[in-house]
Amino acid sequence: MKLIVILAIILCYGRVNADDIEWIVYKDSPCLLADMNIKANFSYNASDSSVKNILYEIPKNLTKVDSSMSYCNESESLLAVNWSNGNRFEVSFSKNNKSYELSKFHISLNASDVLKDSFDNGTIEIMYERLINDSSFDTPANFSFHCTREQILNSTKNDGFSIILSQVQFEAFRSNNKDKKFSLAKDCESNFKPDIVPIAVGLSLIALIIIVLIAYIVGRRRQQARGYLNIM
Ligand SMILES: *[C@@H]1O[C@H](CO)[C@@H](O)[C@H](O)[C@H]1NC(C)=O
Ligand SMILES: *[C@@H]1O[C@H](CO)[C@@H](O)[C@H](O)[C@H]1NC(C)=O
Ligand SMILES: *[C@@H]1O[C@H](CO)[C@@H](O)[C@H](O)[C@H]1NC(C)=O
Ligand SMILES: *[C@@H]1O[C@H](CO)[C@@H](O)[C@H](O)[C@H]1NC(C)=O
Ligand SMILES: *[C@@H]1O[C@H](CO)[C@@H](O)[C@H](O)[C@H]1NC(C)=O
Ligand SMILES: *[C@@H]1O[C@H](CO)[C@@H](O)[C@H](O)[C@H]1NC(C)=O
Repeated sequence: MKLIVILAIILCYGRVNADDIEWIVYKDSPCLLADMNIKANFSYNASDSSVKNILYEIPKNLTKVDSSMSYCNESESLLAVNWSNGNRFEVSFSKNNKSYELSKFHISLNASDVLKDSFDNGTIEIMYERLINDSSFDTPANFSFHCTREQILNSTKNDGFSIILSQVQFEAFRSNNKDKKFSLAKDCESNFKPDIVPIAVGLSLIALIIIVLIAYIVGRRRQQARGYLNIM
């Protein structure tokens, strides 16, 4: 059990230095960092009058943060990102006392830009709002959130649309932190509590001391044994 905790902590530390973060919002210093793969799963009316289902992947390398619309406030933050002709997504984060969460995810696509055979040329909207009891994205303050596996956000509009996220890492509500690096991560696979960090660091230090001590004692015994042999 302790070993698992220690390993988890080491793994978390290993992820802290993520380079090339895709989207950054500034307020004096970088106050919101995010990187993830995003797919939109939706249906549309095609020009041959059939209904088609498509999995559209947002082209990360074409995206740009809309810094005039993005913001970091005390209890609410928004990342707005545009790409190509009239496509956009917005992610909201809300903060309460000691934690924050991803609260909304809105994708708006220009049908004639993204689809080749759409009958309508309007916008396709996918809207997700966090359900009251959903804690999938809850993150302790001053930590980042990390999740490798796919997470599906169902549209709240009951249209069967969804947003599929993977390789997610984000950190909102940073204050006076000039580093463009994610802080220690809460991983979606661990039932992680921040109080456990100092305990685990302490435990791993104790474990290290014990290992060094054992190595020292074993080494000395060997040396002594060899010493007697030499005398004989
Ligand atoms: C973006 O990535 C896609 C495939 O991942 C590639 O085809 C395209 O050329 C890239 N565009 C730019 C501007 O780098
Ligand atoms: C939607 O895409 C089409 C084709 O790329 C473009 O002509 C049009 O201006 C775009 N609409 C908006 C609102 O950007
Ligand atoms: C987060 O970090 C800031 C600045 O270091 C600190 O003032 C604040 O108390 C921390 N919040 C929590 C919940 O630990
Ligand atoms: C949408 O745009 C395409 C090509 O630009 C056009 O052929 C089609 O008639 C338009 N559909 C509607 C409903 O305006
Ligand atoms: C999302 O929708 C799918 C299919 O409609 C359903 O199986 C799944 O349980 C839904 N997930 C949540 C978290 O509501
Ligand atoms: C996309 O949505 C459709 C309809 O809700 C569903 O049948 C399909 O499994 C979804 N695809 C993925 C990759 O989740």
